[in-house]
Amino acid sequence: MELYLDTANLTAIERLSRQFPLQGVTTNPSIVAAAGKPLAQLLPAIRELVGPRARLFAQVLAERADEMVAEAQALRQLDPDLVIKVPVCGEGLAAIKRLSLLEIPSLGTAVYTPMQGLLAALAGASYVAPYVNRIDAQGGSGLVAVRELQQLLTLHAPHCQVLAASFKTPRQALDCLLTGASAITLPVDVTDQLIHSPAVDAALAKFRLDWQQAFGA
Ligand code: E4P
Repeated sequence: MELYLDTANLTAIERLSRQFPLQGVTTNPSIVAAAGKPLAQLLPAIRELVGPRARLFAQVLAERADEMVAEAQALRQLDPDLVIKVPVCGEGLAAIKRLSLLEIPSLGTAVYTPMQGLLAALAGASYVAPYVNRIDAQGGSGLVAVRELQQLLTLHAPHCQVLAASFKTPRQALDCLLTGASAITLPVDVTDQLIHSPAVDAALAKFRLDWQQAFGA
């Protein structure tokens, strides 16, 4: 499976890419805006932190397919291995088809239904990103959407991977992995929650105390 970090915060990427078995970093326009720097500055800085083998993702903002493709090509000038995130709307599907012909890898994003994800895969996307928490927040089930999308891809588009996104809790991530998602991207707070708990802290403190009481150091 593949684990990604969903942030453009350089301090967090430096810390978490050292600690966690990450395959790379995903971003979207809101994440880049929160980081307060343009992709022209962020992508080289992120690449420097995560190394040459990591996979990086950045999203196009254009609304017409030809503009999306041009934006994708410009982004690939910044990072030649970049995977281009494209919203799965009509123009986005047209852009994914063109990017596929140009052999530029893409991820279909803003996926709220399994059929939407399948269409992106059939258009040539390498990844599709169902928005788990946003689907839950609408009264649907992000988990069911991931399961059905994974089934569709296995049956009809096995070249494409589910990269589940939009998580607010570790439990959502665990459930998606158990249901078959082969990749997930997590925000910094959820990533931290995977290994931090008062119980772990208490266990480590007790080991240290027992050792000091026995050996004094
Ligand atoms: C990834 O493709 C998405 O852009 C991201 O995970 C959305 O997360 P959010 O719903 O927390 O904004």
